[in-house]
Amino acid sequence: MTQRIAVIVGSLRKASWNRKLAQALAACAPSTLSFDRVDIGELPIYNQDLDDDHQPPQAWTDFRDKMKTFDGVLFVTPEYNRSVPGVIKNAIDVGSRPYGSSIWAKKPCAVVSASISAMGGFGANHHLRQCLVFLDMPVLQQPEAYIGGVDKLFDEKGEITREGTQQFISKLMADFAQWVSIHAPA
Ligand code: FNR
Repeated sequence: MTQRIAVIVGSLRKASWNRKLAQALAACAPSTLSFDRVDIGELPIYNQDLDDDHQPPQAWTDFRDKMKTFDGVLFVTPEYNRSVPGVIKNAIDVGSRPYGSSIWAKKPCAVVSASISAMGGFGANHHLRQCLVFLDMPVLQQPEAYIGGVDKLFDEKGEITREGTQQFISKLMADFAQWVSIHAPA
């Protein structure tokens, strides 16, 4: 059985390295997983009044409905100022409400952070993990994935040029597939 994974990328940039990395992650994953990137750039900033008044923006409703159809989530994110970009935090907040109807609970997930610096977005990765633990998402523990020097990782075809990194992400995705098969809600 194929398990469907929502890919959420924390960068809206056309030439985003993280988007390229998300494609490389999907390409080397076991065939038991299929991937769809879910766009979060058009979600209006969360405002609880709109849920309390039962007038959520259509984009929130569409996002919540779509996310419910997935078996798991792969987050691929840059680090902004040692944390997650606002766009990804907003998607987390929109999906977590109305209270009691979170679309995140129990969905297995993995976090991959990538940065042009050597630290590979460690700060973003762990700020995001903090939210995911609170949201009751089983987060893949190991391997942790902090991809540094991401701007030097790809050739012009989008293929990863560092053999060690390619091996690492292949192992990561194999472990993630196993994680999803164990934790995905029936
Ligand atoms: C950054 N960048 C960055 N990098 C990092 O390693 N740690 C950080 O805290 C920050 N902070 C930060 C803030 C803001 C507002 C921007 C725009 C950028 C640099 C970042 O890693 C780089 O721009 C990446 O290329 C962003 O990922 P995408 O857009 O290429 O996927």
